[in-house]
Amino acid sequence: MTTQTYLSELFSLDGRVALVTGGSSGIGRAIAEALARAGASVVVVARREAELSATVGELAAHGCRAAWVSADLGTRDGVRSAAEEAVEPFGEPDILVNCAGINLRPPLGELGEDVWDTTMAVNLEAPFLLGQRFGPGMAERGFGRLIHVTSQQAHRAFVQSGAYGVSKGALESLARSQAEAWSPYGVTCNTLVPGFVMTPLNARLSDDPEKVAALAARTMVGRNGLAEDFAGAAVFLASRAAAYVTGQAVFVDGGLSVH
Ligand SMILES: NC(=O)c1ccc[n+]([C@@H]2O[C@H](COP(=O)([O-])OP(=O)(O)OC[C@H]3O[C@@H](n4cnc5c(N)ncnc54)[C@H](OP(=O)(O)O)[C@@H]3O)[C@@H](O)[C@H]2O)c1
Repeated sequence: MTTQTYLSELFSLDGRVALVTGGSSGIGRAIAEALARAGASVVVVARREAELSATVGELAAHGCRAAWVSADLGTRDGVRSAAEEAVEPFGEPDILVNCAGINLRPPLGELGEDVWDTTMAVNLEAPFLLGQRFGPGMAERGFGRLIHVTSQQAHRAFVQSGAYGVSKGALESLARSQAEAWSPYGVTCNTLVPGFVMTPLNARLSDDPEKVAALAARTMVGRNGLAEDFAGAAVFLASRAAAYVTGQAVFVDGGLSVH
């Protein structure tokens, strides 16, 4: 067996269909590209059409099969219609990556019900509803991969964690419930846990060189995360090779959480 064949048997996503929410920016975009370049047909879901279409253009330029759906995952109707539109190009997904997320960060004392509701809707409810929509079908077909993107703030408070940290903590619990429900049927569920990653989500912090350097110093690797750092871990969790990895929080954070 050649090295290439061996690696393909472990990690190739040929013939798989993946749905990546938040796949038009930052970490989600890097994950969408990684899954697509590993062989999956990928549908990216987010709101802004220009970013979605640019992402799909980039994937097509790599020779990948990709499509996009514009939807607001902050409403239940938005999630439902996103799911229905997302199955049109390539069929039901084998891999669902919930990466869309928002971090609004008002001080806790000023955090109103609107911020709480929006945060829970996008960060927690959308992954739950998409799991309910696609998890049982994956279980019936005997293969599935649910991958949620959480945060170090699921584990500790950090820079006004407020509602955001709560939503990410609950998302990790959801992952364990989903793993318990569907792992016996070949559907694993895990979370990828970023530390501090230079993306548009935290543009305010990324623009402050002193804060950026201070955060980098808290890692073991000595730098902050890049979206591309998630490519390998995402392909691994989505692949056949990860069949016995389920219910886990996989930290991709340069050692931040253990320093
Ligand atoms: N960057 C970090 O340091 C960091 C650290 C820990 C965890 N994370 C998590 O990693 C994930 C990705 O973050 P990122 O840093 O890559 O952020 P990003 O570049 O801001 O990307 C967020 C993505 O989510 C989409 N999105 C946001 N609200 C949406 C909505 N209501 N409906 C549909 N799509 C929506 C955005 O597209 P539209 O705006 O066009 O809708 C975009 O594609 C998030 O879950 C975040 O919480 C990031």
